[in-house]
Amino acid sequence: MVGMWIIGYGLLIFKPPPHTAFRVSGYLKGFLRRFWQSLLDHRGTPEAPGRVVTLLTLQDLQSHSRFHGDLHMYELRGHETETEEHVEDHLLKNDACITDTTRRISQLAPDDLRVWGVAYYVPAEHVDEVKAYLDVREQDGYSTHTVPFHVLNYPTTSEAAAVLDTIPRTENGDYYIESVIYIGTIENESFVGPESIEHTADTIRRSAGPSGPNSEYLRQLAIAVRTLDQSGRSRDYYLEDLMALVDGK
Ligand code: BEZ
Repeated sequence: MVGMWIIGYGLLIFKPPPHTAFRVSGYLKGFLRRFWQSLLDHRGTPEAPGRVVTLLTLQDLQSHSRFHGDLHMYELRGHETETEEHVEDHLLKNDACITDTTRRISQLAPDDLRVWGVAYYVPAEHVDEVKAYLDVREQDGYSTHTVPFHVLNYPTTSEAAAVLDTIPRTENGDYYIESVIYIGTIENESFVGPESIEHTADTIRRSAGPSGPNSEYLRQLAIAVRTLDQSGRSRDYYLEDLMALVDGK
């Protein structure tokens, strides 16, 4: 048996599964991360469900106009790196982009939608145990999918080098993994999108469950995503704006 990569874009970024040997960071192409999965336990209750992240595919976005209207256009602004921008400036810029939303969405390519996350390497002897640990998530409406992941940051240990040596590279030399990820698809019954960022913020602010306040999950995720890349490429303005709204800023 060989080892396995587990790709994470949500909880897994700040709460690694057991028995991982090391992790790399990078991005998925052609996906959008949104807090549009309802959660009855952990960070919410059946009476007041919380919100956790899931991914929408580019195809979901292009073929369902209901997702166009309240998109915040974080992804349609190109890939320039902004470092010191305030939330309000940012939203103002978005207003200008929203005018030709539909045309721009139809023209989006996978490379326009990047979701930063992590991939953990699980050595062969722990694969079954880790799979069993993660498959509990399927009960919350998530299902497993195989997706490509572009590795941009990795440890320079000999253990990591030995594993990375066995995986393919893209044309520009980036390591490239295809492996398992958990997604609550738009068909699963806990999917609540589209939902305005204000409504999501309000729900997160009010929700808590046995694992703690829903806002803590958001905060840990936003901070963890921001720190995935030292040159600022991993900043996710949707997460940061959501956090600012939850904090009442
Ligand atoms: C994650 O990638 O962090 C993740 C998201 C939803 C369910 C399980 C894992």
